[in-house]
Formats: sequence, structure tokens, C-alpha cells
Amino acid sequence: MVSLFPRRLRDKIWPEPLPPLASFKGQTVLVTGATSGLGLAAAVHFATSGARVILTSRSLSQGSSAKEHVEQRVGIVGQGKVHVMELDMSRYSSCVSFVDQLKHSEAGHTGLDVAVLNAGLVNVDFVQSPEGWEQTIQVHTLSTVLLGLLLLHWMRLKRKGEPKPPHLVFVTSRKHLLPDVTAWMKWSTQEGILQHLNDERNWASGEIDPNYSESKLMLTYAVEQICKRAAGSNERVDVIVNTVCPGLVNTDLGRSVSKMSWLMRLFVSIYFSVLGKSADYGARSYVAAARTSEDEHGKYVQSIYTDEEYRHLAIPNVTSNTAVRVKKMVWNEIITELEDKVPALKDLKDSA
Ligand SMILES: NC(=O)c1ccc[n+]([C@@H]2O[C@H](COP(=O)([O-])OP(=O)(O)OC[C@H]3O[C@@H](n4cnc5c(N)ncnc54)[C@H](OP(=O)(O)O)[C@@H]3O)[C@@H](O)[C@H]2O)c1
Repeated sequence: MVSLFPRRLRDKIWPEPLPPLASFKGQTVLVTGATSGLGLAAAVHFATSGARVILTSRSLSQGSSAKEHVEQRVGIVGQGKVHVMELDMSRYSSCVSFVDQLKHSEAGHTGLDVAVLNAGLVNVDFVQSPEGWEQTIQVHTLSTVLLGLLLLHWMRLKRKGEPKPPHLVFVTSRKHLLPDVTAWMKWSTQEGILQHLNDERNWASGEIDPNYSESKLMLTYAVEQICKRAAGSNERVDVIVNTVCPGLVNTDLGRSVSKMSWLMRLFVSIYFSVLGKSADYGARSYVAAARTSEDEHGKYVQSIYTDEEYRHLAIPNVTSNTAVRVKKMVWNEIITELEDKVPALKDLKDSA
């Protein structure tokens, strides 16, 4: 078992370096969930490096405050380099209309060079989305996959044949290594994996895990399929797709933990503040993921483990025979749900 304590301290003290200034000059970068934490810090990094940045927020007023923050931090007030768009990932219709508006917006007219799908949450209570799914599954898994597929289609069309492929980055978590997927095999032959995890009776109330980890593992599985779709002809990659884990970062992600006992809140707060890096440091991993080469298509970008350690740790949930079977089932369930509920996805298939 790898001890994470020294590595977390190392990450906290010696962060990922930022690329030279102007590395993203003239590029357009989308960051979802950019009103706080890692998304906001990533927006500052990309804008500092010369990019035009599109931020998303559930509320336009919070989005405007985030835009002001970025412009002031970077010293680009009034230059029209930061844009805000509304996106609520608890509803499919919002994801579809967001991509539609993006395509027709002034900010999106050149297409995207980088899209970072960062929006996320922690729930300790069972909360259902308007689509009928538990909110973590809805946001991390179903809506992130939907957004990824819609963006992939557009990014590929816009940039086809250009020498440098654009980047699509999915924010996952190291915690995808935690769930026990042997049980998932059984659920798949019963009510289905998604339905099992979506049943309140199977929800670990008052706990962050395994709920959070399960939604990120399902996303990790789905991104493998998205990677396959992103491969172009002649062994080229049309869009470089990566997953990234920023490590433990001291953000407001655990706001729903405030509903826990005072002792648990105290523990979470001390744990994050002692071991968590700053959002500035954590968001550097997003910048690193946005600069991967075609050879790194599909790579999981992270700094906690060595590649060899990760290969070993990923066996049960990612590469074992059981994991490969579970992965296929999870993908089938996700894509069936999305194609049933979102006609725009069917249209993409027809026009492919
Ligand atoms: N912090 C960590 O240690 C850590 C570690 C590994 C991975 N991550 C991942 O990093 C990402 C960012 O987390 P963070 O730590 O920066 O937390 P955060 O400060 O709470 O930021 C989360 C962002 O997601 C947005 N969001 C939440 N629900 C949404 C929805 N239904 N639709 C659209 N946007 C929504 C929030 O927007 P509102 O302002 O509208 O709420 C906020 O901007 C998450 O995916 C998280 O799982 C974090």
C-alpha cells in the first residue's frame, strides 16, 4: 500500500510548474464549474497564459463575479477575454442548449482548443436531479459524459485536419480506485448498475464514499469509450482526451459535509487544510492535461502515484477481466440512458 501522506505534502510544497507565459495565446479554453475552487483557479492560469476563457456557472451572477475575479487577477479587465455561460448539469436540456449556444456564440466561433469538464460536487444526502438520478451520478457521470460527447463531435468537426488536435479533459479522482466492482457484476444482471447505485436504499447516507468514488469510476469507464471515439483515421487522434486528478485540494467541495456531525466536520476541515494543496497548485494539473501530446491520448494525468504504481493499483477496477466486463456494462447503461433521453445524441450519430 502506497503511503499518500508524504506525497500529499510534496505536492503541497512543490507544485506542478506552470507553462511559459503566452503558451495558450490565441487559444479558446472552456472550464465548466468555474465559480470556485479548482475551476476558478484553472481559469486564472489559462487566462494568464494568454487564452480566451469561457467559464460556466449555474447562476449568471456568480459567473459574473468569477469573471471579474479572473480579469482582475490577470489584469485584463474590459478586454473581452473572459466569457460566462450558464450551465446546470443536473438537467440534460441545459447541457444540450449550452453546447448549442456555445457553437453560435462569439466566444466559441473559432471552436475550442481546450475543454476542461471540471464541475462536480460531494453529497452526503441522497438528492435527486430533475432527471430522476442521484445528483452525483447525474453531474459526474451522466451529464459529464453527455457534455463530453457533444463537445467531442463539435471539436472534431471544427478542427479536423489542423496540425494540433484540441484537448478534452475530464476531471475524475484517484478515488475511482476504491469501489469494489465484483459486486457490480451481480447488480448488472439484476436491476442494472446505474439503477442499483441510484436506489436510495443502497445509498450510504451521511458518507462521502462510496457514492462519490462510484460516480467518478463510472466516468473513468465512460471516458475510455470517448477516447476510442476521438481516434481519427490514419492513426491520428482528432481530439486528445485525458482524465486528470488534481490530488487533495483545499476547496469548498465538501460544503455538504456541513450537514455532518461537528466532529466529522472538524476532522474534514483539518484533513483538507493540513494535507490539501491550494486550488492554485491543484489546478496546475489541469493545465498539464491541456498540454499532453497525441502519444498521451487516454492518459490519466496525476502526480500522486508513479506510472508503475498506478498500473498496479488500477488492476482491480480498470484492467482486470472483471473490470473490463463491468466497464462494458456501465458504458451500455450510460449510453442507453443518454440516447433514450437526449435526441441530440441520436442526431450526432446520424450525421457522423
Ligand atoms: N478538491 C479536491 O480535493 C478534489 C480532488 C479530486 C477531484 N476533485 C474534482 O475537482 C472538481 C472541482 O471541485 P472543487 O474541489 O474545485 O469544488 P468546488 O469549489 O465546489 O467547485 C465545484 C464547481 O462545480 C460546480 N457545480 C456543482 N454542481 C453543478 C451542477 N449541477 N451544474 C454545473 N456546475 C455545478 C460548482 O458551481 P456552483 O458555484 O454553481 O455550485 C462549482 O463551480 C470536481 O469535479 C471534483 O470532484 C476535487
